[in-house]
Amino acid sequence: MPTTDPSVAGYFKEVPFASRGGRLRKDKGKEDFVEYSIHDSLLEKIRIAFQRPITIRLLYGNTGAGKTWTMAWLWRKFDEQVIDGHKYLVIAVPRLETKHAPERGMLEALVQAVLNEHPKLIQQAASKANASRELKDIAAYLEDEDGRYVLTGRGASARIPRIEGLPPISTNRAADLQMVILVILEAAKHSGFDRVLILLDELEGPLSLHGRKTVSIFTDFLRDLYDVLEDENKLYPHTHILVGGTTPVAEQFSPEYLNRTIDQGGVLEALLRRVEPAFRLTPPSDREVKNIAEDRIERHRIKQAGKFIPFNEDAIALAWVKSGRNLGQFVQILQNMYDLAAEEGVDRVTTAHCLRVTGAAERGAGVGSAPA
Ligand SMILES: Nc1ncnc2c1ncn2[C@@H]1O[C@H](COP(=O)(O)OP(=O)(O)OP(=O)(O)O)[C@@H](O)[C@H]1O
Ligand SMILES: [Mg+2]
Repeated sequence: MPTTDPSVAGYFKEVPFASRGGRLRKDKGKEDFVEYSIHDSLLEKIRIAFQRPITIRLLYGNTGAGKTWTMAWLWRKFDEQVIDGHKYLVIAVPRLETKHAPERGMLEALVQAVLNEHPKLIQQAASKANASRELKDIAAYLEDEDGRYVLTGRGASARIPRIEGLPPISTNRAADLQMVILVILEAAKHSGFDRVLILLDELEGPLSLHGRKTVSIFTDFLRDLYDVLEDENKLYPHTHILVGGTTPVAEQFSPEYLNRTIDQGGVLEALLRRVEPAFRLTPPSDREVKNIAEDRIERHRIKQAGKFIPFNEDAIALAWVKSGRNLGQFVQILQNMYDLAAEEGVDRVTTAHCLRVTGAAERGAGVGSAPA
């Protein structure tokens, strides 16, 4: 998009508004995330959940509601931190691959995440005198290149080439998958983490692409894992699994929904008594959104050193309404408004810019596209 000052537009493309969507990463939104009241409520729920050995909760909201950014924020907030005397490990999965069964995809992603973020965790834990047989076996398989390939989902088959003297393992067998997850948790515990937060973003992939049967195998798998961990066991850290998904996912995942569909044999019935009430990421209030916008604009303005075009307050408020109170849409509209103002070379971003960019969208050009 042509602008009077390409360097300004170039910067905007990267940081304040346009860094939307996409995969969960630890630094996602690091510079620009703004907490609002919903995040306090979520933290409180998580704090309470960690009092129990295992809890599973869905974090849901519409596309662009901020699920991924919230997860990234939780990741930064908890990972390797000591809070109230407990040390936390975060294991995060950006999305469950759908090429295999979801439980296999989940295991592979967890192993990958641990090896990427904490490469020595499993090996060091396995060298402890009180490490379990299973932990030692898995550490040995991970030492082996082929074994590592299969366990991280890059192998051609599910079968790990057998190592002499060790039991055979296959990622097609639910019992083996569960064993490896327990090994990861045990390794965390040996390494001093007595709390593990597992973040699984974008659950809608497996739920929408796989049939009922596959999904119910997956939920049975989660249920079995839950049941193993439910009884307090000193071998394992307290574990909270937070699953991100869009609103339709919540309808399948919530106890309320399951209660309604149980007669029809809802596929997630297995999890009914085991999931916490789903947590909806509600939009910020009008006052909160003003803070979010000001915060993000301010951080940006500081870096711009004089080249910045300020927003009128009513222009921000209008953008929020026009976004349908959706954070992702909102920042995209702010971005487009700014680009338009820069293109015109004016010194304020106004409601007129808002109307023009959203009007273009309403006429069918899409919010993300440049006005003609
Ligand atoms: N707390 C926040 N502070 C500032 N900006 C935010 C915040 N939450 C979300 N945003 C903005 O909204 C955009 C969308 O957020 P995010 O990608 O987390 O949504 P999502 O719910 O994961 O959407 P999707 O369903 O498409 O994955 C972000 O790129 C960011 O610009
Ligand atoms: Mg997301």
